Amino acid sequence: MLSDKIQKALNEQVRIEAESSQVYLAMAGWAEMKGLEGVAKFMYKQSDEERLHMLKLIKFMHERDAAVEITELKAPNNRFESFKEMFKKLYEHELFVSESINKLVGLALDEKDYSTHNFLQWYVAEQLEEEAQAKTILDKINMIGDDKGGLYLFDRDIQQLSVTTQAAPQ
Ligand code: FEO
Repeated sequence: MLSDKIQKALNEQVRIEAESSQVYLAMAGWAEMKGLEGVAKFMYKQSDEERLHMLKLIKFMHERDAAVEITELKAPNNRFESFKEMFKKLYEHELFVSESINKLVGLALDEKDYSTHNFLQWYVAEQLEEEAQAKTILDKINMIGDDKGGLYLFDRDIQQLSVTTQAAPQ
């Protein structure tokens, strides 16, 4: 059985992952509106992955007979000044998620809950990957600047990235 503190923190993470899925869904919509097909595809994929992150947490909680709470979600940002701003927001959002996972890991240790601690290691690795990916994309965007040809190629390349990125296991 999970402690009340751990249950509360895991439920909070369920909400954060669900909100992350909404954040990227809104980004996908904006990219679609701007005709950036590759970026939109990438964002839809990210949104799906976040939902899988949420489901993985929910499954773990049910396996431990924890009380899962599905709550209302904060509305995401639907408009961006530029696609550079959007990817900056994506990177910042991933840093925020990593911080939240790190706090959870710390709490699991404090509570001497080693099975939750072990379960969370998957999220630690996933966040490392997501942060690195977001940083790489942001660096590319900074290189492109306002170059329209560069943006065209970027949109094509990122489509490839969304095809090769592995889906999160369930
Ligand atoms: Fe599930 Fe990208 O954090």
